[in-house]
Amino acid sequence: MKTKKHLTVEGRAHGATDPTAFTPEFAYRERKKGGATLWCEEVALEDLATEVGTPAYVYSRASIVKAYQRLDRAFHGVAHSLCYAVKANGNLSVLRLLAKLGSKFDVVSGGEIARLRKLGVRGTSIVFSGVGKTRDEIRDALEYRISRDPVGIFLFNVESASELEVLIEESARLGRSRDKRPAVSIRINPDVKAGGHAHISTGYRQHKFGVDWSEARQLYLAHKNSEWIEWRGISAHIGSQILAIEPFATAIERVAEYVRELKREGVELKYVDFGGGLGIRYTDEAAPDVDAYARTLMDSVKPLGCELLLEPGRWIVGPAGVLLTRVLYTKENGGKTFVIVDAAMNDLIRPVLYEARHAITKATHAAAAEGVLRETSVDVVGPVCETGDFLGRDVFLPGASAGDLLAVWTAGAYGFSESSNYNARPRAAEVMVEGRKYRVIRKRETLADLWRGEE
Ligand code: LLP
Repeated sequence: MKTKKHLTVEGRAHGATDPTAFTPEFAYRERKKGGATLWCEEVALEDLATEVGTPAYVYSRASIVKAYQRLDRAFHGVAHSLCYAVKANGNLSVLRLLAKLGSKFDVVSGGEIARLRKLGVRGTSIVFSGVGKTRDEIRDALEYRISRDPVGIFLFNVESASELEVLIEESARLGRSRDKRPAVSIRINPDVKAGGHAHISTGYRQHKFGVDWSEARQLYLAHKNSEWIEWRGISAHIGSQILAIEPFATAIERVAEYVRELKREGVELKYVDFGGGLGIRYTDEAAPDVDAYARTLMDSVKPLGCELLLEPGRWIVGPAGVLLTRVLYTKENGGKTFVIVDAAMNDLIRPVLYEARHAITKATHAAAAEGVLRETSVDVVGPVCETGDFLGRDVFLPGASAGDLLAVWTAGAYGFSESSNYNARPRAAEVMVEGRKYRVIRKRETLADLWRGEE
């Protein structure tokens, strides 16, 4: 989209983050009556919000397509598959789009598998990760089938010896022939500290995820000739929102070493699944270069002759979405200025759960509004009865006033998917923009949805 990008003059003067600078497909454009308004592709978000209401998650289709293709291209030097992490944003329309682009999928629950089944995604495109798969979920995955496809899924990533036992039992119960054994990998714990926040760091040895190498090695060897499972891969995922290449480099080298060691012991693996975790820019952080990330992984994996699997979530959908919310009131308390909006922690829990900072800007910059706040540093808070209910603290937001439409940026990943009905708030609508058109891809919940299934 070729447009001049605008922020308020004050915004630039204070060096506030300009999210349009690192968020493709979203831009401010001058309005005839003065001021600028925010567009997603060819849709003015003020118009969209007037029709759909707020709060609403809005995604750019082009942004998702370009991110997927960009990441895919970065790995062209090696046999690879992108397995989109459904948990980041599991809306059916998002999944359908990614399936169309050729993506495979990483899932962590029977519910996520059910979403894929609903779309007719083939079992050969599904990687099943997760630290606590139930026996029923394992059985369902073993029996996953779309029309006349071969039965089962692409890969199980097991995370403990006891889970492996259940998988073997269930596979044995089905009693299929040797060539129909499920393909299995062990998620190893590479003992690397990485990740944006303590709650999203996963690869250290004291985390619940994965299996220590010494134990994993024993399991690989003990079940080398199993009748009921076939070792096909090894997997690792060291954390999320990782902003440096080094932890990836350390971890992938460890994994590569394990692959070589297993080969010497007679266990030949076809897949190295290296999870997701590549960080993105939310405000002022420097995101790693995607080509440098890709080169690092390819350098280690290529000599092994294995196919590389990746499970990106945030990188694909994070920058593609904003959360639109309207200002209800403004007020001052104890020298602090609060902008109270109609979205809350139930809509976007990242700020309080991970101390995440999202850029927040006015979607429409009025030329000269009246009765606006003169304070420029404000807390943007929701109506939920919790002090932790904020979307941003000390946000640079000059001139906010009741009725203003705000955009909370970079909210496409772990936004709607982590939303809830807390305080009996119906969940927000989700909207997909494509060029000049947009579609509501999830209706705003109704009040009746709030007590569905209750007595
Ligand atoms: N694979 C596995 C096994 C995972 O656990 C995750 C994320 C991913 C892939 C995708 O990671 P990504 O590429 O999106 O970083 N809710 C938190 C992030 C939780 C990540 C959980 N696992 C947040 O909003 O920051």
